[in-house]
Amino acid sequence: MSSVLTVRGGVPLTGRVKVRGAKNLVPKAMVAALLGNEPSVLRNVPEIKDVEVVTSLLQIHGVTVLKDPVTGDLTLDPQNAKTAPSTAIDAHAGDSRIPILFCGPLIHAIGEAFIPDLGGCKIGDRPIDYHLNVLRQFGAVVEKRPGGIHISAPKGLHGTKISLPYPSVGATEQVLLAATRADGITELTGAATEPEIVDLISVLQKMGAIISVQTDRTIRIEGVKELRGYSHRALPDRNEAASWASAALVTRGDIYVAGASQRDMMTFLNTYRKMGGGMDINDDGIRFYHQGGKLNPLVLETDVHPGFMTDWQQPLVVALTQAEGVSIVHETVYENRFGFTEALVRMGANIQVHRECLGSVPCRFGQRNFLHSAVVSGSTQLKGTDIDIPDLRGGFSHLIAALAATGTSRVTGIDVINRGYERFTSKLEGLGADFDVQNSRKSTPAAQISR
Ligand code: EPZ
Repeated sequence: MSSVLTVRGGVPLTGRVKVRGAKNLVPKAMVAALLGNEPSVLRNVPEIKDVEVVTSLLQIHGVTVLKDPVTGDLTLDPQNAKTAPSTAIDAHAGDSRIPILFCGPLIHAIGEAFIPDLGGCKIGDRPIDYHLNVLRQFGAVVEKRPGGIHISAPKGLHGTKISLPYPSVGATEQVLLAATRADGITELTGAATEPEIVDLISVLQKMGAIISVQTDRTIRIEGVKELRGYSHRALPDRNEAASWASAALVTRGDIYVAGASQRDMMTFLNTYRKMGGGMDINDDGIRFYHQGGKLNPLVLETDVHPGFMTDWQQPLVVALTQAEGVSIVHETVYENRFGFTEALVRMGANIQVHRECLGSVPCRFGQRNFLHSAVVSGSTQLKGTDIDIPDLRGGFSHLIAALAATGTSRVTGIDVINRGYERFTSKLEGLGADFDVQNSRKSTPAAQISR
């Protein structure tokens, strides 16, 4: 059942939201529990679709997943892990990108894995060549089969030297989850070092893994025979926090984001301040607010950590449409992450996308026909329109644009936002947004939320 939002714009978002565990860590920590010889406990778990998908995939593989009805904490017990029926696995095809990370843990647990075709946001081709090459280097046999990929390792997995052509978050996680119980030492160069990666390393170290991160993006793992369970509180979701911060600028509002961590958002906070955004940082969260004056345009380039995170780009582009002057955004992580700007242009934004690398350094996509640079001229008055949400971050960007626009917007496909933003409609309601939610089936009375 898909829901439709009717949004009446022009109301500043003011109030408090709380961000919980990071979408880009929690599902990975759940998969890591498969590597242990006893139950693990994961805290600060958000109610998002990616967690549901991984819970279901773990359960069909014999892992019991118990959710505390009050705190939402998960207890994951991998002691009866088993091969899953392929029909049950197929049912998850297209749901998420996380299943590819089951390979190493399932090989260690039951000797093989069948990974369904992956889902995830359409922000580029999203290949998994790095993942498959890494698994082969550990000694796995990779076979493409109808509906997915079969991975096995008759002689188990052995340590190896791996150099990633690009600091891929997923491929780095693939190495970590395969190497910790592989036979021997693994050295990974060109690794991703995002806060979510460091949190996953913390989880594995609690289980008994021996992992060191060196200053030159080299990660060294000494394989161990057995791992215990872990007890871990997931780091907060910096991407959701940044999304609400952009929403405060776009709607000229004032939002306190409880749980936001300054340490994980340093580059975002510098950029926000340069735009003229207001912020008050305390031990429990960060207040983000529009200061009433003009917003400043920016020249911005996304990059791997500690650079400006690609997941922060889309909501901030909406804020740049409200800045006085010309901004330039060079997206260097994904080749096709400006598709969401079409709807913003229909709403009155002045955004042009270009094939050239409009940034300090040429990136992988230069002259390869990808529209991966944007020029934003502001400020422009946004007008409500019909919007069909394309992907997670683009969808959130459309929502905040509709909330700032004059007039009414009809937003369809909002269920994709449930993948990464926990209870976002109730958060919007709590911030004073003026909207109704209807489900698209005529037979059921609409669940009206209106103010
Ligand atoms: C993770 O995706 C995040 N998703 C993304 O967040 C995030 O944008 C991305 O890391 C970068 O930080 C999750 O953690 C679930 P990558 P991932 O491998 O691991 C290329 C969001 O909105 N590549 O670092 O899939 C790839 O095409 C999502 O929360 C290959 O070429 O990202 C891309 O250009 C969006 N071959 C670049 O590397 C591969 O085998 C970075 O991808 C793998 C990746």
